[in-house]
Parts: sequence; C-alpha cells; structure tokens
Amino acid sequence: MSKRPYIVGNWKMHGTRAMLAEARAIDRGAERLTKVEVAIAPPFTLIHAVRKEAELMGVGAQDVHPAEGGAHTGDVSAAMVKDAGADFTIVGHSERRADHGESNARVLEKAKAALAAGLNLIVCVGETEEERDAGKAEAVVSRQLSGSLPTGEELAEKITVAYEPVWAIGTGRTPTVDDVAAMHRHIRAKLVAIYGEAGAGVRILYGGSVKPDNAAELLSADEVGGALVGGASLTAESFLGIVIAAADLPRDH
Ligand code: 13P
Repeated sequence: MSKRPYIVGNWKMHGTRAMLAEARAIDRGAERLTKVEVAIAPPFTLIHAVRKEAELMGVGAQDVHPAEGGAHTGDVSAAMVKDAGADFTIVGHSERRADHGESNARVLEKAKAALAAGLNLIVCVGETEEERDAGKAEAVVSRQLSGSLPTGEELAEKITVAYEPVWAIGTGRTPTVDDVAAMHRHIRAKLVAIYGEAGAGVRILYGGSVKPDNAAELLSADEVGGALVGGASLTAESFLGIVIAAADLPRDH
C-alpha cells in the first residue's frame, strides 16, 4: 500500500478545553512521526481550538447535517465545521446510525454535503454481533457501502472507509487478524467495483478497541491502511503508542 498509514482519533463526546494539552502533545508527536498521517476528530466545540494547536495533524468533525443551513436547531453544517478549521468529517459512525436512526440514505446525503463544502470524508461501516453470528457481516457491509458512499471516480481520493464492527467498539474485543483481513479485502473489491481503478487507492481503516498493544497486529493485516481510534485516542500517551506502531510497520505494507 503506497499511502502513509492514517491514524485518526475519534474523541466522541469527550473533551473540554482542558484536553487541548493532549491535542498539542499529539500534534508534536505527529511532527516526529512523519511516516504516519495523524488526525483527530474532537467534538464540534473544540474543532477551532484544536486546529490552532495543530501544526501538522488533520482536524475533523464527527458528523455534519446534510443541509447548507436553515431551521435545524442544534445541528451543524459542513460549511460551519470547515469554517471552524476542519478538513474532514466522519459520517455514518455506528453510534450515530444507532442513536439517531441514520439510514444509509441519510449518511449519503451527509457525505455529499461534506464533499460539496470541501471536506474529505471518513465513511464508517460495520456489522452488529447478531449480523456476524448470522453470517451476514459481508452482506451488511456491502449494503452500507453501496448505500452510503457517493459515486464518481474523481471522489475516491477524498474518501476513506472505516470498518468498525459494532461489537468491537469500546468492548476490548477485536476480530481476529484473519477476519479483519477478509473483511478489508471484501471492502476493497467493493470499492473497486464502485470507483474503478481509483478504488484501489482508497484507504480502509480498522476501528474497534485498537490499543497500543494490539495496534501492530491489527495494522499489519492485509488491506488495513490505518485505524480509527476511540478510547485510546483520548491521551497523547496511548494515541501516540498506536501512531508509533504504525510508523514501525514494514515500509511496503
Ligand atoms: P474504541 O476504540 O473506543 O473501541 O472506539 C472505536 C470507534 O468507535 C472509533 O470511531
């Protein structure tokens, strides 16, 4: 894989200005570890402040509303997060799909709005435990990809896919490396079907209980281009442990 590994911290609903010191320390680490592309998606309220700390790392949002603006109390548009300093947004995280009933169609609307505002995208997919046990994991992920990804070969370079099995998020459980590799190969085939040759260059991140001590193993799985990290991204010490594991991967991975 020719692109640098991409390690992204999703702070979810964590963080006040007291955490800016962690953001600063992560950014300083990113400056030393240039073999890895590093980014953080803090809550909306911290995007502007984290951007000011960021010399090198990317800064993103965790969600955007599909509309450009208007009567949507409590929502935030793609143009607003761009203006606050974001260069990408996550869409379709399973916590939003579950907590806010977001369908694939809704995620697609958000993805299109983000691209129109000039943001890059991390589109999340992943099956529940029930779906995996029923042997439906690949079918579910296929449907999520077909339904949530904007089409057009020229868009592929702006898109990253994150595979996050719902049952591995925040649980300390992870799939086996073989299962991760199998799903990532499945996603790769689907991306090539959607984007043609450009689909071969889309990075596919693994997410779900990635920690400094399992990162090397998960990141070395076939077709894994980085990680989307929740809990372990909240301190510079643990997040940089994962970035270091990515920097130490063999060059040709
Ligand atoms: P954890 O790393 O806390 O399992 O969360 C993963 C995740 O949902 C990242 O988006």
